Amino acid sequence: MSPDDLASLAKSLDLPAKVRLLTGASAFTLHPEPAVGLGELRFSDGPTGVRGLKFAGGRVVSLFPNATLLASSWDPNVLYEVGTLLAEEAMAQQIHVVLGPTINLHRTALGGRLFEAYSEDPLLTGRLAAAYVRGLQDNGIAACLKHLVANESETDRNTVDSVVDEATLRELYLLPFEIAALEGEAWSMMAAYNDVNGVAATEQNHVINEVVKGEWGYSGLVMSDWFATKSAAPAANGGLDLVMPGPAGPWGEALVAAVHDGLVAKAVIDDHLSRLLLLARRVGALADPRSWPSSLPNPDSAVRREQLTRLAAAGMTVLKNEGDVLPLDRAGRVALIGRHAVETIDMGGGSAQVNPPHQVSVATGLTALLGAPAVSIVDGVEVRTRPVPSRFLTDPVSGAQGIRATLYDAAGSVLEDRLCPQSKTMVGMDDDFAGPVASARLSGRVGAEGPVELGVLGVGEWTVRVDGASPLTFPLQAAGNGFGEEVLTPPLRTDRFTVAPGALFEATVTLTTPMGLFGLIGHNAPRATVDVIDDAVRAAAAADVAVVVVGLTEEQETESVDKSTLRLPGAQDALVEAVAGAARRTVVVVNAATPVLMPWLSRVDAVLWAGLPGQEGGHAIAAALLGDVEPAGRLVTTFPAADGAAPAWSVTPVDGKLPYAEGTFIGYRGHYAGRAPEPAFWMGHGLGYGRWEYSDVRLVTGDEPAITATVENVGGRRSREVVQVYLRPVEPDEPIRLVGWSAVTVDPGQSARVTVRTDPRLWRRWDEATGSWGRLSEGGTFLVARGLGDIRATVG
Ligand code: BGC
Repeated sequence: MSPDDLASLAKSLDLPAKVRLLTGASAFTLHPEPAVGLGELRFSDGPTGVRGLKFAGGRVVSLFPNATLLASSWDPNVLYEVGTLLAEEAMAQQIHVVLGPTINLHRTALGGRLFEAYSEDPLLTGRLAAAYVRGLQDNGIAACLKHLVANESETDRNTVDSVVDEATLRELYLLPFEIAALEGEAWSMMAAYNDVNGVAATEQNHVINEVVKGEWGYSGLVMSDWFATKSAAPAANGGLDLVMPGPAGPWGEALVAAVHDGLVAKAVIDDHLSRLLLLARRVGALADPRSWPSSLPNPDSAVRREQLTRLAAAGMTVLKNEGDVLPLDRAGRVALIGRHAVETIDMGGGSAQVNPPHQVSVATGLTALLGAPAVSIVDGVEVRTRPVPSRFLTDPVSGAQGIRATLYDAAGSVLEDRLCPQSKTMVGMDDDFAGPVASARLSGRVGAEGPVELGVLGVGEWTVRVDGASPLTFPLQAAGNGFGEEVLTPPLRTDRFTVAPGALFEATVTLTTPMGLFGLIGHNAPRATVDVIDDAVRAAAAADVAVVVVGLTEEQETESVDKSTLRLPGAQDALVEAVAGAARRTVVVVNAATPVLMPWLSRVDAVLWAGLPGQEGGHAIAAALLGDVEPAGRLVTTFPAADGAAPAWSVTPVDGKLPYAEGTFIGYRGHYAGRAPEPAFWMGHGLGYGRWEYSDVRLVTGDEPAITATVENVGGRRSREVVQVYLRPVEPDEPIRLVGWSAVTVDPGQSARVTVRTDPRLWRRWDEATGSWGRLSEGGTFLVARGLGDIRATVG
């Protein structure tokens, strides 16, 4: 079907029928329209798993390593493979569009959602995203680039105005979208919650119409982020094609009226609908419906376990390795210490969460490879201020892990009685009941005895009862008034109880908001920090090596909230210090997606950065620690040495505005220019298990200059090297930038010749005066480096 055919198809409907199709039918589906052969389009969140049509408590699906961990491979093939696997996960659920990749940049390390996004660098982000997009779309599943644009932090995300000059917007924040849209040919994009220079991202005539659809000639569809659309005519005229979710929303009759009043041209509506029909055609939901494969690997299959272990381990990054303590000696006794060792964090919070078949802890993974007698496991200090929904509650009806939720309407009739394996359930967003849920009863049996903390999660009027004792009643309200807090950071309350084994924990809630996340919390009462550290120190002293697993949790790495510090939560730093003082050798594994401070760095022997490694996390970390898979990752973001010691820091808007005052000097670019102190680790740093010498580095000049170099693996193990090339422009006001990289795997004692082509898009310079692209002067200097802290050659 040609573009003209799609346009005539769009025109064949009457105006109300056209407009109806431009708002979702439900949380994650669109309206079908038999009159034009349009089937139901089905969307699902990504980017680290295809969750399906339910926001929480949906089907069991594979949980992939998070975006920063995948990106640390610096390997488009890895991202392509991930795209193809996600396409399989989508096909298994008849999903047409995966809402990812997230390609906002790591502007400041405080951004709560950086775990979903690739890097601080636009070229690395764009190229990796393009590969991910191709992996999905080569299988007929649409990708969705999000969130367009200047959406690098979460504070006041629905109202914040990102103030960004045009050069910064184009050279930095739009560049990953440009690469993934043009090179990856992404079939859809998502307009963000925030404003950009005073105009809502969903009404951005300049960004969407002029740049994306105009200059880039983008033929795909632009949808809104969920509940982000604020208007009818300005959004429709600004280039937004589709309002999500539905069926209610600001378009509908208001948009029909705006057309009748002459505020929106009919051609604008037709263009939106043609783009929607093109998306439908591309994913096989127009005219002849696509066929779906009947047999695909399930999330728990051996093939998925192998893939997800390998993909996670390959991105893990060796930050320090004194005396080659890594890979670990298989014959040694290991003291494995830390809350993250026993409850490894495999994903961030918010809409990227999925319901995985299992989450393998480091304790399980390392024990599986070394055998239980060689590993003594010691739980660590507390790492959360908000306890998570329970791991020790069971359904009173079936006995399965989780809780029972019974949902009632206003008349008190049961709408549904469901088992919630994760002890939480979403209400009001993706329900398919005749009427709204008015109240709910949540119940679980407590699989512990003695003093425990039990509690509830969610906005409403609560009554809580343990084992029939007299009830506690209290209200819980959302902390702020932004959309989504009742879903993404719902309030909670816990109380201490002393229970007998199998005690029944029941809570009823009368809803005071139409939508929200509700759950039961249950965990053992915390132990005193001093006792925990004492146990750890004794185990460390008795072992050959101590492995301490520390990290962040979904409290820091989540949607809707930013961080306020890069310090590890709780007394984890004190735990590491104490262990390092007692152990023969100390290895720290950092289980976090984004930079953390390491005040103990000089006192430990090795640091392995492990990201949020997905469902096979513990197996992957164990494989990396033992060298079964080389943790050949390179950092995708610069780690500041202290809070605030970065070129861009604050995420708090002032008078509603968040100035991107550092311009294009974010991350390594700003550190290198002396705008921030020397970082703890530069983007691009990563030791792997090889050791490298560079020689014969040459510049090949021309329109697209290239660098060639010989790299020799002078270490003792087969290893992968990532040769990075940075351009230092002649212009003093232009930052240094990554212009290309190339990777090679080499056996010990062998060398390889590597060519790195510089990307022409990094030679461009936006000229504000003429409103057009210019080009940097020839004659800049090229730095061949393993991150800018380890420069191996300078040419040009
Ligand atoms: C997020 C999007 C996500 C959408 C649907 C929003 O809160 O910002 O990234 O795709 O929800 O769940």
